[in-house]
Amino acid sequence: MSTSAPSHNQLDTKAEAWSALFSEPMSDLVKRYTSSVFFDKRMWQADIQGSLAHAEMLAAQKIIGADDFAAIQKGMAQITSEIEAGTFEWKLDLEDVHLNIEARLTALVGDAGKRLHTGRSRNDQVATDVRLWLRSEIDLIEGLLKELQLSLVEVAAKNVDVILPGFTHLQVAQPVSFGHHMLAYVEMFKRDAERMLDVRKRVNVLPLGSAALAGTTYPLDRERVAKSLGMEGVSQNSLDGVSDRDFAIEFTAAASLCMVHVSRLSEELIIWMSQNFGFIKIADRFTTGSSIMPQKKNPDVPELARGKTGRVVGHLMGLITLMKGQPLAYNKDNQEDKEPLFDTVDTLKDTLRIFAEMIGGQINPATGAKEGGITVNAENMRAAALKGYATATDLADYLVKKGLPFRDAHETVAHAVKLATMKGVDLTELPLAELQAFNPNIEADVFEALSLEGSLNARNTLGGTAPAQVRAQLAKHQARLA
Ligand code: ARG
Repeated sequence: MSTSAPSHNQLDTKAEAWSALFSEPMSDLVKRYTSSVFFDKRMWQADIQGSLAHAEMLAAQKIIGADDFAAIQKGMAQITSEIEAGTFEWKLDLEDVHLNIEARLTALVGDAGKRLHTGRSRNDQVATDVRLWLRSEIDLIEGLLKELQLSLVEVAAKNVDVILPGFTHLQVAQPVSFGHHMLAYVEMFKRDAERMLDVRKRVNVLPLGSAALAGTTYPLDRERVAKSLGMEGVSQNSLDGVSDRDFAIEFTAAASLCMVHVSRLSEELIIWMSQNFGFIKIADRFTTGSSIMPQKKNPDVPELARGKTGRVVGHLMGLITLMKGQPLAYNKDNQEDKEPLFDTVDTLKDTLRIFAEMIGGQINPATGAKEGGITVNAENMRAAALKGYATATDLADYLVKKGLPFRDAHETVAHAVKLATMKGVDLTELPLAELQAFNPNIEADVFEALSLEGSLNARNTLGGTAPAQVRAQLAKHQARLA
């Protein structure tokens, strides 16, 4: 148990990690092809965290000495500061983050470093690292999803009484509250956050101790390692523990759904800010101009988010196909899980961050208030809601309340809409006498029912667009997100 640097048998290249069995070195092309260090080095913290927990347990179980553990701790502290300072030398020859850190540890502390890998394989090591890394990313994503929901809730709170046309088939359907519309997205992102938390439970399971594939001959205390890493359990089958990446697939599926929600919102923002709608403006810093058309302000951020959704869904396809057909247990195929997973995390985090700010604005340190979110043009929304006979259903409902069966009422209103269309007016602009010609039970109170406010207020059922309902939902979300 020496803590001084060894004079020989230090890992400098991968071939030396495998032993004397190999009679020829790898070609440069094969090295480049098989190495992952230039992307998996971002898991270095998880790698060190996992190694320290493993070493602590090895010492507690008297598999290595207490002085070995102390040396490993010291070496890992040194490596941490080297990586943080940017002086750590990552070597392609050492293939991946695991071998790079282990080789440096051995260079720093000698035999203790060589003892670290007792009862462990890179197969259970990498499975553990990916899980630890992903767990902390999920926690960041939870925070970002909350920020985005808060932004949407804030916009909703300011716009409960702002009315826009609700669409089905992108045809004017019925008037809705803009606050209600925003809260629809809050519901989506709330479910996304729940899905992430659910995925986290299955991510947060320890494979370490599975060793290469069959378990190990050393008396490991896996529960101890899980506990010290804050994991919720240990994998129950060594073959499964080292090989399945279903947790990464599940995460990417949850991320894909979240991006799909972002993409739907993006599509609406893009439509709403087109000149033909003019419902909203987004701050200039989220738009770009055109190099040829001086009048242009293009919604690049929402468009890119819509495009990046394809990228994340592509990663889901990549990962799920990667897993398909792999026999037990670990196969090198799994090294290909990292880039799609990393890119999914990066894309999702950036997207959520930028959307929270684009929608809700950012805090002005001078005033403490948020500024620079979307600007709502309530007049244009209202004008659009007044077009397209958005309250035709309300006339039908009015007639039903006067005793007409719904199907007959629907037909009657179709005739009224036809007449109004011919005259080029809204239903509310037809004189009472003309409306009464369709049904004698129609009275002067019909105009209130046909107004935008009347239409909204009438939809006062749970989950409906009546401002009273929207306010109740808002209060629930505000309490939940506080
Ligand atoms: N870099 C590898 C990966 O990402 C680590 C595990 C390698 N294990 C092995 N037996 N070659 O999966």
